Amino acid sequence: MPTLAPSIIASDPGRFAACADEALGAGVEWLHVDVMDGHFVPNITIGPDVVEALRPVADEHGAQLDVHLMIEEPQQYVDAFAEAGADNLTVHVEACTHLHRAAQRIRAAGCNVGVALNPATPLGHLDGILPFVDLVLVMSVNPGFSGQSYIPESTAKVQRVRRQLNALGSSAHLEVDGGVAPNNAMELIRAGADVLVAGSAVFGGDQPVAQNIEALRNALTLKV
Ligand code: DX5
Ligand code: ZN
Repeated sequence: MPTLAPSIIASDPGRFAACADEALGAGVEWLHVDVMDGHFVPNITIGPDVVEALRPVADEHGAQLDVHLMIEEPQQYVDAFAEAGADNLTVHVEACTHLHRAAQRIRAAGCNVGVALNPATPLGHLDGILPFVDLVLVMSVNPGFSGQSYIPESTAKVQRVRRQLNALGSSAHLEVDGGVAPNNAMELIRAGADVLVAGSAVFGGDQPVAQNIEALRNALTLKV
């Protein structure tokens, strides 16, 4: 079964811990935490303190905190997010002049190394870094907000990253983030993703969170 990573910023900002508990209580293994600085992306969300507050909730459920840094100069904040309890730390290739150094820093801080690509960023930007990463995150919307529509061209990009990872013999995770919902989840897994981030598909709408997670799971199991 692929890993689901509910994106906590899509939940109620006044109740992050309770919403995280609800999603993790439905059995998902990762919680996705979107960090935005108002510079790299046109939105400001959360910092290390919130990651620290979510750590015990994740621990209660044996879950991982998957921290996605949409910030400029992310290397400056690696230690702060590692100390706050991040398991995976993902930086954007577009935000790092010295991407390899940022990756080394994440590894040295004791976290799994993730690199993310914006929709318009060519895959060639991964060439030098792929052997060093534990996770590749393909953005399937322009980062900044939950609730945007999936960019259909992302599926082909996921396929191409999957081929590159396979050619390297890499066991890195391939994660897709943005507009993931029951209607495209299976397509993404077939394309080679193994981790699906979902914000509004989990925390949006009027249905209980557990029911939304169930709908995603059903989309992934029925047609396998
Ligand atoms: C977008 C964030 C996503 C977002 C996903 O910039 O990186 O993680 O919260 O939300 P949905 O699934 O609603 O697109
Ligand atoms: Zn994200």
